[in-house]
Amino acid sequence: MNLVIVGAQWGDEGKGKMVDYLAENADIVVRFSGGANAGHTIMVHGDTFVLHLIPSGIISPDKIVVLGNGMVIEPSAMFEELTSLSVKGIDWEKRVIISDRAHLVLPDYKNEDMRIDEHRARPVGTTGRGIGVAYGKKASRDGIRIADLWDPVIWDSLSEANRNWLAPYKEKIASMKVNLADFMMANQDKNILLEGAQGALLDLDHGTYPYVSSGSSVSAGAATGAALGPRRIHSCLGVFKAYQTRVGNGPFPSEMLGDEHEALGAQLQKLGHEYGATTGRPRRIGYLDLVALRYSGWINSLDGFILSHLNLYDGFEAVSVCTAYELDGNRIDYFPSCTAELERIKPVLQAFPGWDGAVGAARCWEDMPEGARKFVEFIEDYTGVPVCGFSVGPLRGETFMRNEVWTAS
Ligand code: IMO
Ligand code: MG
Repeated sequence: MNLVIVGAQWGDEGKGKMVDYLAENADIVVRFSGGANAGHTIMVHGDTFVLHLIPSGIISPDKIVVLGNGMVIEPSAMFEELTSLSVKGIDWEKRVIISDRAHLVLPDYKNEDMRIDEHRARPVGTTGRGIGVAYGKKASRDGIRIADLWDPVIWDSLSEANRNWLAPYKEKIASMKVNLADFMMANQDKNILLEGAQGALLDLDHGTYPYVSSGSSVSAGAATGAALGPRRIHSCLGVFKAYQTRVGNGPFPSEMLGDEHEALGAQLQKLGHEYGATTGRPRRIGYLDLVALRYSGWINSLDGFILSHLNLYDGFEAVSVCTAYELDGNRIDYFPSCTAELERIKPVLQAFPGWDGAVGAARCWEDMPEGARKFVEFIEDYTGVPVCGFSVGPLRGETFMRNEVWTAS
């Protein structure tokens, strides 16, 4: 069976941790989108792993991990990441596979990415990893793919500097590359976990364009980015935080702005260590936005949500969420397409009483404080999507499911 995990907000929801957890029942983990802009943090065996390109299944010893064709890959960053895994005792040899249709990020793309963003009238605030440049070249048919490294005409068309830079990686990549469509066909009886990067609101089509990334971060991206076709996807799960964060620029309707809200934002930023895992930038903080979450549930066709960070609200007197928007004096409950409208929105907040007891100590649904369960049930009613799992702390053991997720819906 094939199970997709995506971010349901603006990234950093805890996808990496959940992929690591769910990988236990997977044979293969395929990352289907993004590049080294992602930062997937996993805390396990008393160690912290921050993965950017390598799928989060790598921490489990016997899993095969695949960098899908939907990704853009910088070989130096990939091998650096693999070396740092070796240093931490993770044996990755023969377990890491790369689609030969994945596109390459070349060294000059990073400078180009930063230069373009600096000259934008309204900069996106990219991670500076050359992501937009690589996807841009891909769309304009000027990109270089893994397979192209062995095409003499394309190889000769590269600058000498790029050839010299790529040459040391070629032999190793040759032993890792596959035709992913063939590989997926040959493994169709296996349990495959499809790992997204970024989040629905950073998706090139469905996100807050132009303040988005350049890949396909919604579940549909798994079908193209992992070479398996939409009818081979059996279930889709979306991870979201009990509040909302965003790194970089762009509209954020439920952002905690203004004195009283900012103080709460600062408190959550500290409690949740909300600093970018890739760039170290402080993340902007907002109230959980249920209008955006319902939108995300729809565009990802989610079978279930996984809720993370609810434990951060343990001990709070009240927990507020955004249940509607006010746009130019009118109340709306849909997620607008127009950036200027998204920027003018004021959030309509609804407060819920805090709870006695600790979500952080819960290891099953029945353990959860009653107030927290009511809060979760409100989210389910609002979005129409069941919350089927919880991450209640950074460690692998601080995770539980309400139902079996490795079953096709
Ligand atoms: P994970 O997988 C959060 C944001 C950047 C910027 C915008 C475009 O860890 O959830 P890019 O470099 O992709 O062109 O930047 O997207 N961004 C992320 N924000 N988590 C991520 O990934 C992100 N990947 C990109 O901050 O606003
Ligand atoms: Mg991240």
